[in-house]
Amino acid sequence: MISSNQQKNKNLLRAVDTRLANKWCLSPFWLVETDLDAEFNRKLFEEVFQFYKDIDTGASVKSDLIAYDSPTFKHLQNVIMSSVGDAVADFENVSRPTSISELVFEMCSAWITIMPPGEFYMMHTHPNAILTGTYYISIPENSGDFAFLDTQEMAIDPINGKAKLVRVPPKEGNLVFFPAYVMHEVQKNNSNDVRISITFDLKLKENNLKVTDKNAARAIVDSYERYQVKAN
Ligand SMILES: [Fe+2]
Repeated sequence: MISSNQQKNKNLLRAVDTRLANKWCLSPFWLVETDLDAEFNRKLFEEVFQFYKDIDTGASVKSDLIAYDSPTFKHLQNVIMSSVGDAVADFENVSRPTSISELVFEMCSAWITIMPPGEFYMMHTHPNAILTGTYYISIPENSGDFAFLDTQEMAIDPINGKAKLVRVPPKEGNLVFFPAYVMHEVQKNNSNDVRISITFDLKLKENNLKVTDKNAARAIVDSYERYQVKAN
């Protein structure tokens, strides 16, 4: 029988079922098979690679990929943000957002990763982000699995639980995302070709900024200026 908690966390590769572990160390990991095809990926790579070529040749000033004017990358950003919005809402058991503007987080950085044969990325986290993820553009066979460290079993069962390395084979058109604190790595590219993906970080929006409206500003200016007149 599936517990309500497992049902709620249906997007997890592994769901936890104790309230304590839920609070301490839920490590959701989401995998989305997008409908973006090989032709889209070809155009996406062409446009995004141009961003780096322009900076390399001095034709463009240094900037983040998220500020780049590329139709395919903008489309990918929309796919990422709506996928993340839906997944997090399902996970939190709240209704899905009706538009991207409703999301409490936003993309703060993105970059292309071109991993040559023989290379790998050691276990790491993404500081200064709340969520992070990757979209796969070109994945030759045996070009390195994505893997993350799952410690939830230890939280549930401190005596027998073990930390596990969960491997997620990458696939062109797939999108993965997870909390930025989750330790992860990219295993060695054992193919003879480059492995190409786009990685992104999301941060919480600065939605607690107090807005000074016209009336508030008028009151402040007025109270000071009136005093200046009286003082004279
Ligand atoms: Fe990473």
